[in-house]
Amino acid sequence: MLGPVILAASRSDRMRRLVSAAPVTKQVVDRFIPGETVGEILPVIDELTGNGLELTMDVVGEDITTPEQATAARDAYLELIGRLGPLELGTRAEMSVKLSMFGQALPGGHDRALANVRPVVEAAAAIGTTVTLDAEDHTTLDSMFAIHDELRKDFPQTGCVIQAYLFRTEEDARRLAANGSRVRLVKGAYKEPAEVAHQQKHEIDKAYVRILRTLMEGEGYPMIGSHDPRLISIAQELARTAGRKLDEYEFQMLYGIRGEEHLRLAAEGHRMRVYTAYGTDWYGYFMRRLAEKPANLRFFLRSVIGR
Ligand code: FDA
Repeated sequence: MLGPVILAASRSDRMRRLVSAAPVTKQVVDRFIPGETVGEILPVIDELTGNGLELTMDVVGEDITTPEQATAARDAYLELIGRLGPLELGTRAEMSVKLSMFGQALPGGHDRALANVRPVVEAAAAIGTTVTLDAEDHTTLDSMFAIHDELRKDFPQTGCVIQAYLFRTEEDARRLAANGSRVRLVKGAYKEPAEVAHQQKHEIDKAYVRILRTLMEGEGYPMIGSHDPRLISIAQELARTAGRKLDEYEFQMLYGIRGEEHLRLAAEGHRMRVYTAYGTDWYGYFMRRLAEKPANLRFFLRSVIGR
């Protein structure tokens, strides 16, 4: 019951101010967002790659309101890519971007987001890596998929995310599986109405398995974005049945969640990519993590009231 309430709060400016100002918020946020600057995140990258893990880097931020913020977002990614280049990690460190942070919701937003994200994709390709377009709420997805198609004309490795809770996703998955895309499948983290999305966990899980089968049997590169132990073992089974080798799909999890499982899958020979977020505009990302597991909220509240 708490999840939808927290997700509604994730879009409230008043809650943003309250949560951000809470005295101990930062300590709790650090579990999921282990740095605010490129300088702070580089040692984290070093530690994760040293443990045999791969990364997808997210500069936190979304729902920006001015063109200047959109270009600042582009520049933040370009700075990160500039610092990653000399480390020669190649695809071991890719980027994840939210198009709303690149201006998608501003006037002329589709073209603006494309214009801002393209240099990031170009810079990533120049250091031998790639970019994945995160999926935000359902109203943004037609534009996201069109930008994905556009970028793939020059950079076919550009990935995108699909969300199992949306009814539309089974069809999106068939198209992306047929055109050979890199696709991350997640359950979905936004508050979506019953007209467009499954609301029950078991329905979402069943859809996840159907969609994953489509991706595994297709021509693309499936990226399994989940911490759910049941789905992870089903994914391994589906990969085996589809005859995929270990380097023909990968697992992805979020930094700060089930860290021991990251290491276990990597030790088994799987490609395991950790979604690692950093930056100062962490509110929306943090609230979605609270909504996914209400125990996180209790922990957060206990730390605020000091018990
Ligand atoms: P589920 O929520 O059932 O969790 C399974 C288990 O994992 C839980 O029982 C718990 O142990 C642990 N767990 C999960 N979330 C936790 C949390 N926040 N704190 C502590 N433990 C937790 N969504 C989206 O809409 N667009 C996107 O672009 C992305 N991108 C993305 C990238 C990657 C790499 C991942 C892993 C996830 C996303 N997501 C996302 C988020 C996704 O939609 C979903 O909300 C979360 O992954 C939680 O769902 P699970 O599949 O982990 O299952």
